[in-house]
Amino acid sequence: MTVIDKAITEAEAAKGYLLDHAAAYIAVHGHSPLAYVHSYGCQQNVSDGERIMGRLAAVGYGFTKNIESADLIILNTCAVRENAEDRVFGKLGDLKKLKKQKPELVIGICGCMAQLEHVAEKIKESYKQVDLVFGTFAYNELYTFLYEVLCNKKRIFDQSERPTDIDEEFVQLRENKFQAFVPIMYGCNNFCTYCIVPFVRGRERSRAPESVISEVRELVSQGYKEITLLGQNVNSYSYGFPALLRAIDGIEGDFRVRFMSSHPKDASKELIDTILDSCKICKHLHLPVQSGSDRILRAMNRSYTVEKYLQIVDYARSRDPEFSFTTDLIVGFPGETYEEFCMTKDIIKKVRYDNIYSFVYSRRSGTKAAQLPDGISDKQKGLWLRELLLEQRETSSEWLKRFVGRTCRVLAEAEGRTGDGYLTGKNNEAVIVEFLGDKSLIGQFVDVKINKAMNWALMGDIINN
Ligand code: SAM
Ligand code: SF4
Ligand code: F3S
Repeated sequence: MTVIDKAITEAEAAKGYLLDHAAAYIAVHGHSPLAYVHSYGCQQNVSDGERIMGRLAAVGYGFTKNIESADLIILNTCAVRENAEDRVFGKLGDLKKLKKQKPELVIGICGCMAQLEHVAEKIKESYKQVDLVFGTFAYNELYTFLYEVLCNKKRIFDQSERPTDIDEEFVQLRENKFQAFVPIMYGCNNFCTYCIVPFVRGRERSRAPESVISEVRELVSQGYKEITLLGQNVNSYSYGFPALLRAIDGIEGDFRVRFMSSHPKDASKELIDTILDSCKICKHLHLPVQSGSDRILRAMNRSYTVEKYLQIVDYARSRDPEFSFTTDLIVGFPGETYEEFCMTKDIIKKVRYDNIYSFVYSRRSGTKAAQLPDGISDKQKGLWLRELLLEQRETSSEWLKRFVGRTCRVLAEAEGRTGDGYLTGKNNEAVIVEFLGDKSLIGQFVDVKINKAMNWALMGDIINN
């Protein structure tokens, strides 16, 4: 028997045990054992959380949003910045009490933080209430892990990297019934010097295009209206990203497609042309620039210059003068001077982003940048971040005015933040639109005539419902 055959046999036996466990639980409690699964971090992690929920549902678990009523708690963690880690350790502290009251409760930690050996070690020593710590390569082992915890009362720690962890058969249990995340690749090869992701997600692995396309086709047939393709750098999808986009654009149905992220070093004219020549791909590119200074970009190992970045922007805008861009920016990279920070403010003015996601640099142990002297105080970084946001607010409040007077197709996503009766959604670019509308419209496309631009969103009135 090969190692893989043995693992499959073990997983099948564990699955049988878990199904029996759920049946016995139902006999006593009158309902399924309940799992609370919470994902921190990026869309990739949310998608992994849905994968975990799919696996749990297949062995009889139901789900709860009330952590206190859960029989199994799984925190799917993020390690990208220090505050993401702090939140999880804070939560683990709170769970100690719950575990005392309910000794049969199983607590599991997975995801990016759980892939880090030093985190696993800290949990092993200091957070004895945690039963299960498994990294980003081990989702396929979930049944075996739960079997060991429930049946053999073991604590499990698995941080091993597996060469092949893509499972095309997995079922994602998506809570959202009209917007779906579809991972097309896992891992990252880029090693930006500030970033922990390549260390916790391993090297790039791409899903087969047939598998992605048939998943999208299936989601559209179920009524999904928005598909977001995910990868740390979709431009390095092994089978060609523009070709995948064209194939997905050819799928019949009333839906739209987004994707993220796109690394500027290999964002091509072909990518822009594919977006602009398509029917269903949103005319928007999330193109994280990180910094407006070539020296800082070099120190970050981003492999492009500001000039190269602006060439992509200029090409898109030469074909569509209003092409929509959003970006990620880091403030306070080690050694950054105020002049270099001002270059980042300049790029906001030059590109005119619809929105930015800006972060204060967070030192991640194990990365190259963590070894660099970091002379900038947290207070200073905070002030720079505020300055950056002011710049963005000023630029976007002007730039978003281009939509006023126009009708935008908006996918109604939820009730709005601005007050009673308002719904919120995004237009075909990626700008938030708020409008008065009935809750029954959530999950549908509506035409909204824009009458006001704020610095973070548009306001308008529905015209077709
Ligand atoms: N793969 C994506 C890319 O390269 O565009 C980014 C993924 S990362 C999860 C999202 C964003 O987090 C990055 O674009 C970067 O701006 C930010 N980020 C990553 N590491 C960081 C760090 N150590 N401190 C602050 N922000 C960080
Ligand atoms: Fe991190 Fe860079 Fe990879 Fe994005 S491309 S995940 S920023 S290493
Ligand atoms: Fe995402 Fe955080 Fe991991 S941003 S890839 S969940 S480190």
